Amino acid sequence: MIGRICGTGSYIPKVAWDNNKLSEMVDTNDEWIQERTGVVRRHIASGEETTSYMAAEAAKAALADASLAPDEVDLILVATISPERIMPSTSCEVQKKIGAVNATCMDVNAACTGFIFALNTAQAFIGQGIYKNVVVIGAESLSNLVNWQERSTCILFGDGAGAAVVRAGETGHYAQVTYSAGNGGNVLTCSSRNQKQFEEQPKAAETYMQMDGREVFKFAVSKVPEVIRELLDREGMQPDEVKYFVLHQANERIVRSVAKRLKEDIGKFPVNMGEYGNTSSASIPILLDELNKKGELRAGEHVILAGFGAGLSYGASLIQW
Ligand code: ACO
Repeated sequence: MIGRICGTGSYIPKVAWDNNKLSEMVDTNDEWIQERTGVVRRHIASGEETTSYMAAEAAKAALADASLAPDEVDLILVATISPERIMPSTSCEVQKKIGAVNATCMDVNAACTGFIFALNTAQAFIGQGIYKNVVVIGAESLSNLVNWQERSTCILFGDGAGAAVVRAGETGHYAQVTYSAGNGGNVLTCSSRNQKQFEEQPKAAETYMQMDGREVFKFAVSKVPEVIRELLDREGMQPDEVKYFVLHQANERIVRSVAKRLKEDIGKFPVNMGEYGNTSSASIPILLDELNKKGELRAGEHVILAGFGAGLSYGASLIQW
């Protein structure tokens, strides 16, 4: 059996902060942010728009798009690094909120590669004939992890959720290449606030996202093209057989550099980080939902999804629409 995406959905927080708002908070400006990252605005979750709330709203939209009832869902996978609670899992919270009473639920933590790893997990269960209908979600409220006084990170991130319904079928094409590089993990970290070492200093810098931006940039522009080439070679495919390369939306310069290294037309690399910033595990499913809703994806077309992030982790998946 092979999983095919048969419905997508997303949820975007109502409040948006543009670059000018950030320039009132830290020493930065709209021109620098747009030129170096491509980000113009990012959406910021309110107190009620928790990670599980956004995840559930995205899941409901995806189920409606797939014409699937909640009680037909066998598995819910939520990729997130910013749950509002450590337990129960965000996926169990989603189950409760959407009424997916027959689903097994678990979360995946692979930062910005999270949606890809979760999608691969769905495929593995479907391939083994264990589950038929899987909801895969990427949901983040990174605004809770960002230090809003630190200009090199706060300009990049935003909140939101995206979801896809993956259904078992007899036909279709799916392939994946993934890697984790734990030895390089210190370039992108965020420590839990629930640690004895932070009892006296709950707002210690380590409890916010810390990043060596240049190192992450170098890692992304070398590894993402590499993993996409490996995937295409393994499947005996040429890049021109791929309709779109849906990359994690971290920085427009990274997307342009990947397109150049692959010698592919930049038009095949859709971007939306201008509106949302980097929403980590939510960025790929939000972009996929936008493409789907615009009617850009036709049955049978091949799309490559590729991500990179903390871990370090990276990978690419080939899907057939
Ligand atoms: N506004 C104005 N100036 C700034 C800002 C800012 N917000 N931030 C940094 N600067 C300054 C720096 O201090 C530096 O000044 P100096 O030359 O006087 O020392 C100058 O701008 C250049 O700084 P760099 O860090 O070299 O800027 P760079 O071009 O590398 O851009 C950025 C920084 C945007 C962070 C880039 O490195 C990047 O996007 N890296 C990848 C980050 C990423 O993708 N992270 C997400 C991973 S996904 C996950 O798992 C969460």
